Amino acid sequence: MTTRTRILTGITTTGTPHLGNYAGAIRPAIVASRDSNADSFYFLADYHALIKCDDPLRIQRSRLEIAATWLAGGLDVDRVTFYRQSDIPEIPELTWLLTCVAAKGLLNRAHAYKASVDKNVETGEDPDAGITMGLYSYPVLMAADILMFNAHKVPVGRDQIQHVEMARDIGQRFNHLFGQGKEFFTMPEALIEESVATLPGLDGRKMSKSYDNTIPLFSSAKEMKDAISRIVTDSRAPGEAKDPDNSHLFTLFQAFATPAQSDEFRSELLQGLGWGEAKNRLFQLLDNELGESRERYNLLIERPADLEDILQHGAKKARAVATPFLNELREAVGLRSFVAQTQVAATTRKKAAKAARFVSFREDDGSFRFRLLAADGEQLLLSRNFADGKTAGQVTKQLQSGQALDVRSEALSFSVWLEGECVADSPTFADSTARDAAIEALRIALTPIQE
Ligand code: TRP
Repeated sequence: MTTRTRILTGITTTGTPHLGNYAGAIRPAIVASRDSNADSFYFLADYHALIKCDDPLRIQRSRLEIAATWLAGGLDVDRVTFYRQSDIPEIPELTWLLTCVAAKGLLNRAHAYKASVDKNVETGEDPDAGITMGLYSYPVLMAADILMFNAHKVPVGRDQIQHVEMARDIGQRFNHLFGQGKEFFTMPEALIEESVATLPGLDGRKMSKSYDNTIPLFSSAKEMKDAISRIVTDSRAPGEAKDPDNSHLFTLFQAFATPAQSDEFRSELLQGLGWGEAKNRLFQLLDNELGESRERYNLLIERPADLEDILQHGAKKARAVATPFLNELREAVGLRSFVAQTQVAATTRKKAAKAARFVSFREDDGSFRFRLLAADGEQLLLSRNFADGKTAGQVTKQLQSGQALDVRSEALSFSVWLEGECVADSPTFADSTARDAAIEALRIALTPIQE
């Protein structure tokens, strides 16, 4: 059996996906999930969203839109595990286990946190002004996302590489502290898709919500057209040759076109196609490529109950992995049921019982006796004298049979009785504490081994 590569990534639910998100992350992820060697886990990182946004309506809306976008884009939920982070209670629980081993110094070095501190210092504010523990602990929550499912590959943007490295660091530390030779967590690797284009926005800078230069993905055709009309071009008039390689309009076109379509568009531009017409071509292309998905998207958005079902189903699949794994981790750190502890005690007892031993010998007068020695060689009992070996053997057998031991303390020693007869005596102890400890050791040594 070959093990499939587990690919996991999260999408922070603070906005509405735009064309850049689609080309840069969503589309390649959906394509990758179709590989038969891939076991993909994609989720809405809505706990992460809370770190950046305190507007409940926006959080809710964004979760819905992002879920609908991925499904409309062709994600096959029978093939992949698609879920909301906040539907998996094991994630925050693992976050705490990891928080307890994560070095504070490691988190001090996180870029996002450091950038906020630097900004505060620059503006003369208190270094921690406006910084929440959520922002500070962001990488630990992300480590829990990744380690919970033992992801091998984590497709992310460059700004997230450090977080994946921190997940490795924290996971390794946990393995080392609690694994006892076992590697609980797989070491994840960041996967940076070099071939995936970063789309330029309307003004030619990277398409990003923070630059307000995005082209909407599944909004109405009119909104898409309006956005395209605002793409910045140079001032060459119709009929003048354009330079496709220095035109972000052409770059946008290429990201959605076949090579043949791109070649044709390129020669038209070289031959002087006007920018207005060029924008029409881009709109036509996008409308063709995305029109069907847009319809699916609108249908999904209108049926939030269906989306809810799909995500609940995904959560169930994810928890089928997370619940037993977290139980193992709880065990490892010592958060165990008391019933389980009895089992641990039983194992200890088994070892003690194994190590304790009876040693028989014969007295000069021909009688038979035995000693019971504890694991450390300490004598627990010396028997009375028996007329023959058989009787002595029966007594040792009875003592190990599991029947209630009749132990009688006398001052600084004790004796063991069988059917109203004293069969063995302890040595004399220094004090009653030592005597009682020896009685306890005797009971442990004589508890039958149970498998
Ligand atoms: N922090 C990631 C981002 O902003 C989103 C994210 C959260 C994530 N948890 C993750 C990505 C786990 C990969 C794996 O892009």
